[in-house]
Amino acid sequence: MEPVIDDAEVSAMNSYLSSGAWLTEFKKTEEFEKMICDFTGAKHCVVTNNGTISLSLALLAAGVGAGDEVLVPDMTMIATPNSAKMIGASPVFVDVASDTLCMDLEAAEKAVTPKTKALMYVSFNGRTNDLELVRAFCDKHSIFFIEDAAQSLGSFYKGKHIGRYGSIGSFSFSAPKIITTGQGGALITDDDGLYEKMRKLKDFGRSSGGNDFHDSIGYNFKFTDMQAVIGVEQMKKLGSRVSRKKEMFKRYQDGLAEVKEVSFIATDLENTAPWFIDVYVSRRDELVAFLKEKGFGSRPIYPPIHSQEAYSVSGSFPVTEEFAGKGLWLPSSIKVTDEQIDAISFAIKEFYA
Ligand SMILES: Cc1ncc(COP(=O)(O)O)c(C=O)c1O
Repeated sequence: MEPVIDDAEVSAMNSYLSSGAWLTEFKKTEEFEKMICDFTGAKHCVVTNNGTISLSLALLAAGVGAGDEVLVPDMTMIATPNSAKMIGASPVFVDVASDTLCMDLEAAEKAVTPKTKALMYVSFNGRTNDLELVRAFCDKHSIFFIEDAAQSLGSFYKGKHIGRYGSIGSFSFSAPKIITTGQGGALITDDDGLYEKMRKLKDFGRSSGGNDFHDSIGYNFKFTDMQAVIGVEQMKKLGSRVSRKKEMFKRYQDGLAEVKEVSFIATDLENTAPWFIDVYVSRRDELVAFLKEKGFGSRPIYPPIHSQEAYSVSGSFPVTEEFAGKGLWLPSSIKVTDEQIDAISFAIKEFYA
């Protein structure tokens, strides 16, 4: 995956820079936030400097802090638990369900303690289990529901954009994402109070802009208008990128349908825009080396977070362990052509033959 920009970004940036640019977040940022609201259907959007800080900000707005526990899936990018660590909370790892690789609520039930204050649900590659059940689970335990939807811009569940089932939903615009601003994150919510809290927390705790009166502690998690210039142009392309990601996933699926050593997670392509092409294969390391010889990059998916040196926590995570051991990302950039997908699929067939 890679950032994809063209003349639209170049000319938008040129005209922004030659029109008395404010540089840090201002009108362009508001325009970008409005586009995210319009696309997702959320009432409010707050953009931040990245999709890790946005998760920490969501936790802070939820009142989570030192000594609290946050449920996170064992199968995710490490930013999910790290965002809780950064504010002094403890991430508690939960195994995932084998049909989606999203948090398994039965396993989550066993992980809840009196210290549990929030649950971060990661829609892995745009897929989810029933998000209404996740909401009911959080309500039952009186814990705060945050959706880490970093991988899910363009994906919906039951007609509603992912990220809108949680009290707060979080997105990332890092370089490989479906749209990018280089770095960047966004939080969406329908709750006026949470919106105000997040807006203040990311701006030094200022009650309104342009003064030095602070009625609460806050930080600097702000965006820049320069990023927003890129973001606005990228948002205009989101619809076509969503279509292309779906087409690519389908083409890989069709091309590899007869290879019994390769499987896909069932993906509802009506609603899901897979951010990357993930396959689950036997003899993964040998396949990676074979593809590399042919000039095709690929990358093993996340190791179970509990087993990473950064955490080294014991526990039972059989599903995460199984899928982490066989998951592989195939070339997923929207620049990858149909011919290249066919050539990669052909090489995979050749390997197993
Ligand atoms: C699930 C998940 N959460 C959080 C992040 C972190 O986002 P960022 O790189 O913008 O900090 C990522 C990035 O890939 C992610 O995949």
